[in-house]
Amino acid sequence: MHALFVATANAHKVGELRSLLGPGFLVLSLRDTNARIDVVESAESFAGNALLKAVAWAAYLGADTCGLGAGWVLADDSGLEVDALDGAPGVLSARFAALDSGVPGNSPDAANNAKLLRLLAETPDERRTARFRCVLALVPVQPGASAADLAAQARFFEGSCPGRIRREATGSAGFGYDPLFVPEGHHQSFAELGDDTKNRLSHRAKAVEAFRRHWARA
Ligand code: IMP
Repeated sequence: MHALFVATANAHKVGELRSLLGPGFLVLSLRDTNARIDVVESAESFAGNALLKAVAWAAYLGADTCGLGAGWVLADDSGLEVDALDGAPGVLSARFAALDSGVPGNSPDAANNAKLLRLLAETPDERRTARFRCVLALVPVQPGASAADLAAQARFFEGSCPGRIRREATGSAGFGYDPLFVPEGHHQSFAELGDDTKNRLSHRAKAVEAFRRHWARA
């Protein structure tokens, strides 16, 4: 059993990663520690932000006082890229609505979805193409290693899921933009299709698949 610490405060992401990784991994998360590290996601790419989160948590877990037992940190940074919006919201997916209100931090999913629908109100169906993207950064927990040492050892795994943005939110499964996102080859949103189907098609599923191939070789 390999102990992996999943560096995200998003319980939905932890749930999906746990299902996708399967029984060979002991998935630890923020629920298993009282620590709260406020990582400012200031990078301009998914990989950059995943690295910031992975290194911050690996440094914390490597400190003598922690003792959680995780050997590795896996950080997920992900988001939605909409072609008609030149790739927005992209790395700003979690705080899309807050960009207008000036309220710091992430926005409620409903506010992000409402903003997306508003911006696409005049966009015809054939131009509503989009993709979810996910980058996982894997960093070892090494007591005494500097942040630069940890970052130098990072490995990245990517996944992308093409689809389109529908005109109204439908379904109740999943999180984030799932009620608006219809994956290619389907007519229902991720939130209608449910966890099993999402976990076969999603950006996160593909990134985990790449991680698993790496892990099997390593
Ligand atoms: P992060 O925690 O900074 O990576 O923000 C990710 C944001 O992208 C989430 O808050 C969601 O708004 C969106 N997102 C990422 N993955 C998914 C997904 O699988 N379904 C729906 N929305 C997602």
